[in-house]
Parts: sequence; C-alpha cells; structure tokens
Amino acid sequence: MIQIWDLLSALLLARSAHAAATLASSFAGSTSTAVFPPPGVSVTSDASFFPDATQINVFGPTPTGDEAFAIATAPVSPDYANVFPLVEPATSDNKKFDVIHSWGKPLTSSNLGLTNSSAKIPDGCTLQQVHLLHRHGARYPTSGSAPASFAAALHAAASTGNLSASGPLAFLNTWTYKLGAEILTPFGRAQLFELGVGFRVKYGDLLKGFTDLPVWRTTSEERMVDSALHFAAGFFGVQEYQNDYQQLIEIEAQGFNSTLAPYDQCPNANNAIAATATNFTNQWASIYLADAQKRLAPHLKGFTLNATSLSAMQQLCAYETVALGYSAFCDLFTEEEWKGYEYSVDLSFWYNNGPGNPAVAAQGIGWVQELVSRLTQTPITEFASTVNGTIVGSNVTFPLSQPIFADATHDTVISAIVVAMNFTSLAATGPLPGTHIPTNRSYIVNQISPFGSNMVGQVLSCPASSLFFRFHHQHHHPNTHPLAPQ
Ligand SMILES: *[C@@H]1O[C@H](CO)[C@@H](O)[C@H](O)[C@H]1NC(C)=O
Ligand SMILES: *[C@@H]1O[C@H](CO)[C@@H](O)[C@H](O)[C@H]1NC(C)=O
Ligand SMILES: *[C@@H]1O[C@H](CO)[C@@H](O)[C@H](O)[C@H]1NC(C)=O
Ligand SMILES: *[C@@H]1O[C@H](CO)[C@@H](O)[C@H](O)[C@H]1NC(C)=O
Ligand SMILES: *[C@@H]1O[C@H](CO)[C@@H](O)[C@H](O)[C@H]1NC(C)=O
Ligand SMILES: *[C@@H]1O[C@H](CO)[C@@H](O)[C@H](O)[C@H]1NC(C)=O
Ligand SMILES: *[C@@H]1O[C@H](CO)[C@@H](O)[C@H](O)[C@H]1NC(C)=O
Ligand SMILES: *[C@@H]1O[C@H](CO)[C@@H](O)[C@H](O)[C@H]1NC(C)=O
Ligand SMILES: *[C@@H]1O[C@H](CO)[C@@H](O)[C@H](O)[C@H]1NC(C)=O
Repeated sequence: MIQIWDLLSALLLARSAHAAATLASSFAGSTSTAVFPPPGVSVTSDASFFPDATQINVFGPTPTGDEAFAIATAPVSPDYANVFPLVEPATSDNKKFDVIHSWGKPLTSSNLGLTNSSAKIPDGCTLQQVHLLHRHGARYPTSGSAPASFAAALHAAASTGNLSASGPLAFLNTWTYKLGAEILTPFGRAQLFELGVGFRVKYGDLLKGFTDLPVWRTTSEERMVDSALHFAAGFFGVQEYQNDYQQLIEIEAQGFNSTLAPYDQCPNANNAIAATATNFTNQWASIYLADAQKRLAPHLKGFTLNATSLSAMQQLCAYETVALGYSAFCDLFTEEEWKGYEYSVDLSFWYNNGPGNPAVAAQGIGWVQELVSRLTQTPITEFASTVNGTIVGSNVTFPLSQPIFADATHDTVISAIVVAMNFTSLAATGPLPGTHIPTNRSYIVNQISPFGSNMVGQVLSCPASSLFFRFHHQHHHPNTHPLAPQ
C-alpha cells in the first residue's frame, strides 16, 4: 500500500515538476494562416459539366406561400438566442456563468431596462414601414489590436528559448495565433443570414404591393459587404437575392462622406479627443485583473503577465470562440473577472464612442438626418455633417419611400447614433467611474452594439395618434424605445 502511495506521489511530483519545466515550443505565439483554395491553384473549369440551376431548369413545383408577418401576428416578438456552433465557454470558478454575455463588443444580448416593452405591433395599430440599422456579424479582431500584439510578444519570448508555461497556461507552450483580421468569421456570416431570415419572417408582409426593388446600404469594407449580402441572402434566399434588391455600397475611407462610416469625415474622430477612454480603461484593468495576475503569472516563466496581456487573453477567449468555435483562454478567468471585462468595454465605449465623448453626437447626426429625411419624405438640402450629397441627392440611390429600409454599419456608429438621438435612458446613471462597477448602471455596451445587433424603427398607424414612430433595439431580447410621433 505504502509503495503504491509512494509511487503515486512520485508520479504526481514528476508530473508537476515536468509541467513546470516544460519549455514552450519555439513556434508558440506564432501566427498561422490558411487560404482556400491554396494560392497558385488555378482550376480550369469546364462550365458545361456544371450548368447552373436555371440551365438545368427542372425545379419541380414552386408555389410560394404568403408573406410572414410575425411581428404583428405572433403573440410575442420572436427571440433570437442561437450561438451554434460555438462551444459555450465556462469560467474558472462558476461553471454556469454565461461568459458570452460578458464579452461586450464581440457578441451578446440586449435589454435596455425598459420592463415589459415589446417590438410586437400593438393591437389596433398597423405597421407601415420599418427602418433597420444593423451591425456587421462576428469578425476577427481589427488590425493591430491586442490579441495579435499579445501573440507577437509571446512568440518573441518563445523564440529566445526561455518561455515556459505550466498548469492552466500549459496550452500556451504549443498555442499559435490562428486569427486573421477585420473580416467576418463563418459564425459572423451565419449571424447576418439569420438576421435576414428573421427579418423576412417578422416583416415580409410589408413587401406586398411594393413595385420597386428595395435599395439597401452598406459600406465598402469586406466585412460590411459580406454582412449585407448574407442579410439579403437570408431575407430573399440564395437563388433570388441578387435579383430582388439593389445593394448600395458607400466608400468607407478617409475623406469620403458616409453616414455609415462617419469617422472618416470627422477631424476629432481619430485623435486625442477620440481616445479619452484610455485612462479609465487602464485604471480599471489594473484593478479587476489584479487577482488574475497573482494567480496566473507564476505559471508563465519568461513572459510578464500584466493587465495588458491578461486583457488581451480575455479578448482572445471571445475572438477565438467566434472564429474557431472554442478557446482555451476562457476558463482561465473567474465570473468576477468576466464581469470586470464587460465593464472595461463599457468604459471604453462611454468615453470613446458614447455619451462621455464630446465628438460622438456629431458622428451620429448624419444618419439621423437621413432617417428624418426618409420619415418626412423631404430631401436633404443642407450638408454640414457626414451626409454624402451625391448619394442622398438621387432618388435612385436614396429613395425616400420604401416599405423596408436596411443600413449596415459598425458598433461605434450605432453607439454614436443613439447619442445623437438622445436616448437618455442609456446615460441615466451618469458617467462611469474607472474605480469600480457601479450598481445599476444604465450603459452596457453588449445591449447596444454586439456583433449582429440591430435597431429597428417602426412607423405605425394607430387610431389614437395617426402615425407614430418608435425604435426597438434588439439582439436576443427586443425592447422598444418610444420616440417622437411623426
Ligand atoms: C411586467 O409584466 C408583469 C407580468 O405581466 C407584471 O407583473 C409587471 O408588473 C410588469 N411590470 C411593469 C413595470 O409594467
Ligand atoms: C534565458 O535565460 C537564461 C537563464 O536565466 C539567461 O542566461 C539568458 O540570457 C536568457 N536568454 C534570453 C535570450 O533572454
Ligand atoms: C459620396 O459617395 C460616393 C460613393 O461612395 C463617392 O464616390 C463620393 O466620393 C462621395 N463624396 C464625398 C464628398 O465623399
Ligand atoms: C490621462 O492621464 C494622463 C497621465 O496621467 C494625463 O496627462 C491626461 O491628462 C489624462 N487624460 C484624461 C483625458 O484624463
Ligand atoms: C505590460 O507589459 C508590456 C510589455 O512590457 C508593456 O508594454 C505594457 O505597458 C504593460 N502594461 C501595464 C498595464 O503595465
Ligand atoms: C461632405 O461633408 C462635408 C462636411 O463634413 C460637407 O461640407 C460637404 O459638403 C459634403 N460633401 C458632399 C458631396 O456631401
Ligand atoms: C426621381 O427624380 C427624377 C428626377 O429628379 C424625377 O423625374 C422622378 O419623378 C423621381 N422619382 C420619384 C419616384 O420620386
Ligand atoms: C435629451 O433628452 C432630455 C430628456 O428627455 C432632454 O431634457 C434634453 O433637452 C434632450 N437633449 C437634446 C439635445 O435635445
Ligand atoms: C436604477 O437606475 C434607474 C435609471 O436608469 C432608476 O430609475 C432606478 O431608480 C435605479 N434603481 C436603483 C435601485 O438605484
């Protein structure tokens, strides 16, 4: 018996000693990428072998059903909560805590604190028109952001031959950076396809009697074009969408006017005024990640884990999950630390892209002008914001009467628009402190602009008030923002 114990403890000791001593591979932290089809492969395809469906023309019976109108006919507004095929991450302590909902920017749900509100059409009212503003779907991190910097620093350390990770961090010894930048992930494509499907089911009935093709807008960035096309494919179906609407693509680049990318025309959008959040987020990171640093730093030799790298590791959890379906970084952190991470995103948005930044409302106002133009059917004639006069000056590119409007944009633009629209309920609890998470804060970014989030304005005709307009903002939990009557 004693011998077995000795043997066991010797084995255990050997194992932990071995773990502590394991040197990282020299490739740890290096970037790995793949392209399909591989570069240089040129397939000479003979189209005669693969005629398309219209050439085959044996479709079988194709009677269509009626348009759906779930927003008016269902007893409740449909909910969206699908994260398939992502593996739901756990924390290092509370295994039941919903990590995905603390990612802020990358993904999640929306409940703007308006109890019992619903996007459903009130009894007695009829819906005349909808105005959709949505974000693109889940993407890789933006260029040069924290996850890639962390990987590069780790790889530099591994290259010296002195990096060694153990315990919960042992996976870093052979971990490589598999994320690209900027473009949608496969899951991000699914989010927009599902948004399109959901929109057809809720609002398809509005198409009846409309004899033009809808003009829907996005910007020129790859993920923006992809998001718009996946939305349309979900809405119309992949065999039809290219014929059933017009896609307007606004140039997103410095110096070009576009209300969907207003920072490119606003001098204060990309300077020190725009970056006021750094002090707050740095202060908060040094507080909420202090325990994680104590707990995890001893498991990594040859690399200093501090608030910067730990925050990057939390971002890696989110980005690897939405890109690769699973991430080993997630359960390194506790429930408390995930709540801290969520709050760091709130701080960043409040001071960079929200009510705490004096340059933000000016970036949101251009889209609001376009909305008012559409609601009042009055062309825009004054150009002092980010509105593009060429685009709105034509009733071809900017029609004023459509049953369904759909604009694709970015998270920082949605957050600017809700400031310009003076949605004061979001700012009700005041400026966010860098020292602690206030109880009952009203500003939570994962309720404003997670991947695939969307705001829908409804023009309703109700007996009591003729026409009126209201907004609901939704991801998983739709909520209604009453707005001014039209
Ligand atoms: C919300 O609805 C529930 C159930 O109908 C009701 O008990 C509650 O009072 C409502 N809350 C508000 C603020 O209206
Ligand atoms: C690696 O560690 C050894 C021992 O601590 C040290 O002598 C050496 O300078 C280190 N090498 C690098 C490149 O940091
Ligand atoms: C307006 O938008 C169009 C299309 O994106 C672009 O070609 C044009 O340069 C823009 N005008 C300005 C002033 O930005
Ligand atoms: C941020 O902190 C730096 C250094 O402490 C300080 O100089 C700067 O004024 C602060 N900026 C803001 C916007 O608080
Ligand atoms: C963490 O360490 C890196 C690399 O030394 C450094 O650039 C960064 O400023 C540090 N972050 C903090 C919060 O000290
Ligand atoms: C572009 O926006 C600027 C304001 O930022 C405005 O002065 C200019 O007239 C706009 N140009 C067009 C063609 O819309
Ligand atoms: C669009 O503008 C053209 C030229 O300004 C005008 O002739 C036409 O009637 C307009 N169409 C609509 C639908 O307003
Ligand atoms: C924003 O809304 C608040 C509360 O409804 C109101 O007091 C304030 O005047 C509004 N601000 C603007 C700029 O309209
Ligand atoms: C929470 O904040 C809201 C404003 O957003 C306020 O109406 C409410 O009274 C607050 N509740 C508590 C418990 O402080």
